[in-house]
Amino acid sequence: MAESVHIPSGASRAETFEALTPQLKALFVGETDLIANAANFCALVSTAFRFHWVGFYWVRDHELVLGPFQGPIACTRIAQGKGVCGTAWLKNETMVVPDVEAFPGHIACSALSRSEIVIPVHSSSGDVIGVLDIDSSELNDFGVVDQRYLEEWVEIFSKASHA
Ligand code: SME
Repeated sequence: MAESVHIPSGASRAETFEALTPQLKALFVGETDLIANAANFCALVSTAFRFHWVGFYWVRDHELVLGPFQGPIACTRIAQGKGVCGTAWLKNETMVVPDVEAFPGHIACSALSRSEIVIPVHSSSGDVIGVLDIDSSELNDFGVVDQRYLEEWVEIFSKASHA
């Protein structure tokens, strides 16, 4: 795997995603462990974008359970259909929430979170095995660029990694 990453300075978010996509792939070369790769995924996103919180929740029986993350401590279990994460799991679709206070049932792990994006993680057979959750302290911080690249990044991660 790569030992370090180069974060471009002064680049737009799209340019940053573009520059980091090959570096994300390089992180997973020679490593397939799901937890190790998820941990480095979070570190890369956190270092590049300085979001308030970035982390994974894994499907365990009928709940999501907290996995590797970067940021403040977070709630450990989320039921299917609850909050933004549980809704992304239930619907099997990316949720982009511009204002978390306007999302019915949002789970406030941190009072500093203002907007959020949650992307389902799939197994090779297409089942949802978890979600990637990113919180920003700014309102309306996520849009189509983030959705496009983060969905691509989650797919790169899930294809490279096994439990
Ligand atoms: N806000 C999320 C809960 C997880 S924390 O943000 C880390 C939700 O509503 O599902």
